[in-house]
Amino acid sequence: MAKPLVSHAARALTGSARVPGDKSVSHRALMFGALAVGESVVDGLLEGDDVLRTAAAMRALGAEVERLPDGRWRLWGRGVGGLQEPADVLDMGNSGTGARLLMGLVTTHPFTSIFTGDASLRSRPMKRISEPLGRMGAQFFGRDGGRLPAALVGTPRPLPITYELPVASAQVKSAVLLAGLNTPGETTVIEREATRDHTELMLRNFGASVRVEDLGDGRRAISVTGFPELTGRTVTVPADPSSAAFPAVAALLVPGSEVRLAGVGINPLRAGLYQTLLEMGADIRFENRREEGGEPVADLVVRASELTGVDVPAERAPSMIDEYPILAVAAAFARGATRMTGLAELRVKESDRLAAMARGLAACGVRVEETPDSLTVHGTGRPPQGGATIAVELDHRIAMSFLVLGMAAAEPVAVDDAEAIDTSFPGFAVLMNGLGAGIAQPAIGK
Ligand code: S3P
Repeated sequence: MAKPLVSHAARALTGSARVPGDKSVSHRALMFGALAVGESVVDGLLEGDDVLRTAAAMRALGAEVERLPDGRWRLWGRGVGGLQEPADVLDMGNSGTGARLLMGLVTTHPFTSIFTGDASLRSRPMKRISEPLGRMGAQFFGRDGGRLPAALVGTPRPLPITYELPVASAQVKSAVLLAGLNTPGETTVIEREATRDHTELMLRNFGASVRVEDLGDGRRAISVTGFPELTGRTVTVPADPSSAAFPAVAALLVPGSEVRLAGVGINPLRAGLYQTLLEMGADIRFENRREEGGEPVADLVVRASELTGVDVPAERAPSMIDEYPILAVAAAFARGATRMTGLAELRVKESDRLAAMARGLAACGVRVEETPDSLTVHGTGRPPQGGATIAVELDHRIAMSFLVLGMAAAEPVAVDDAEAIDTSFPGFAVLMNGLGAGIAQPAIGK
């Protein structure tokens, strides 16, 4: 059953909160713990549906995975190359990261895995994954266009490859590197623009040899050496900067707000939104900078600010790829135009986010221009009208973005189904309402 929600204008948002753990780091912690020899413990794991699907998949592939009574997660790994054939279909739900990284892992195991997911994941392109993994020896049988459901037959004789990414994608990079773990020799991925490097950082931390070579012009070659002995570790998961983006932007937009967000990951390859907001005039302070589990983190203090439109360069897209929906909301309140370019990848996320934002903002009375790979939002410096109901299309970030818009718009904004929020940010409405937001179930009959 659909779970509609409506967001009413908030007074001031105040107080402190810690958003749930980083989704990218959480998936990787479970996967690497399942490959390591001995026990791993994950502290602060995101218990959202996407990550729980990965936990179930790692169990199906033979690892021991359990939630401890104190909320930490314990894994007992199988060793590199030690995964076993799953007895049933791996249903990855809404999660592109879970599905694609796992395809990399099973490529170098001589058994068959069958992957599926929800309607959103089943519509997303997988050729970008099956192409390089095919070169390493996997066979992939998907639906038309290489979509899920699909069977992947792993190879007993994997070949190392050097693969230049045709799209800036940390998922594709990670899938190839993970396949490289159980492959003789060196497997190399070349990226033209740097994408999030959680795989590289965490693999090193578990004991793998990962080499990064700067090739000039922003290009980098990342290589893993096959058959490392990964050993069990404790992983501390930072609060997710992509989730923190929602309360942070809400605090910027609702007059009189001041919000503190604890322990947020500020890995530079994830921090493009914060850089852009600062350029727009946002009052965001990064306090208590420190390192947790090999990742830089800080407490963010965000105060309501008057924002000005900016041009967001295409080169910044990889470091804020998941944040364009909420940036577009911030831009709707700014004075002047915000031009976002290099956005073609937004069309193949959990939904076509470029179209969803353009449509939803227009319905809320915001002037927007959409091209195949850009979005321009014309802010007037005043709150937009709001007053619309947005079709979420199984996309958590579309749902949260428009609920934030409703907190500061002239009229409430509703979403038709907020269920998808649980994939990445369980407890979103409770956390936001704790800061002073007015998210509620719509009155019956409305
Ligand atoms: C992710 C990579 C990005 C991002 C996704 C998480 C990851 O996807 O959008 O939410 O954890 O590697 P792409 O690799 O498709 O850019």
